[in-house]
Amino acid sequence: MIKKAIESFKKGEIVLIFDDDNRERETDMIVAAEFMTPQHMTTIRNDAGGLFCVPISAEISDKLGIPFMTDLMNEASKEYPVLAELTPNDIPYDEKSAFSITVNHRKTFTGITDNDRACTIKELGLLCKNGNFQDFGKYFRSPGHVTLLRAAKDHVLKRKGHTEMSIALAEMAGQTEVAVCCEMMDDETGDSMNTDKVGEYAKKNDLVFLSGAELIEAYHEFKGI
Ligand code: 5RP
Ligand code: CA
Ligand code: ZN
Repeated sequence: MIKKAIESFKKGEIVLIFDDDNRERETDMIVAAEFMTPQHMTTIRNDAGGLFCVPISAEISDKLGIPFMTDLMNEASKEYPVLAELTPNDIPYDEKSAFSITVNHRKTFTGITDNDRACTIKELGLLCKNGNFQDFGKYFRSPGHVTLLRAAKDHVLKRKGHTEMSIALAEMAGQTEVAVCCEMMDDETGDSMNTDKVGEYAKKNDLVFLSGAELIEAYHEFKGI
C-alpha cells in the first residue's frame, strides 16, 4: 500500500491517511502542493470538508522564515497579554500545534475560492520547489485563507501528526516537502469520517488509504532505522 501511496503522491493524486486511534482519529486527504488544481480543491472541499492546510518541512519553513503561530503569539503577548492567556497547552491529542501563519498568493482576489486557494497552494509548492524562498513576501500576503503548518524537525520521528506524515510521504516520494492536507468530515454525524466510511470512499474513488502506523513503519525502513 505504501508503494501505491508514493506513486499516487508523485502523480499529484489524492492519498488518504488515517493518523491513529490514539490520536485525532482523523483521515486527511493529502496531495503534493505543486500539483494542486482547482478540481482538487472542489473535490476535497466537497468530499473532505475540513480545514485546508499546507504542511511544510522544518527545513523549508526555516528557509521561508515562518514561525509557529504559538511562538508568534508568545512574542506578541508582550504588547497583547491576552495572547498569553490563549496558549494552547490543553490540546487533547498532542503536545504541540503545527499551526504557522496564513497566506494568500498576491494574485488571488478574496483568496477563498477554489481557483484562489488552488493558486496559493500550487504557487507556494512551486516557489519552494524552485528554491525562490527570498520571493515569498513578493508573491504572498498574510493573513490569508490557507493555513501553513510547520512540521517538526525529523517529522514522524518526533511528532506523528498529518503534518509530519505528509512530509514523510513527500520525502519518500522524492518530492518537494510541501503538501496540502484536509480532514474528512461526515455530513451525517457531524463528526470526522470513520475508517469504514473512508475505506468505502477510497474504494469507490480508487484512492490509496493507509494508516499512520503503516506510513511510519515504511519511513523507518526507508531510513534504515
Ligand atoms: C489542521 C489540523 C489537522 O489535524 C491536520 O491534519 C494537521 O494537523 P496534525 O499535524 O496535528 O494532524 O489540525 O486542520
Ligand atoms: Ca491537528
Ligand atoms: Zn491531523
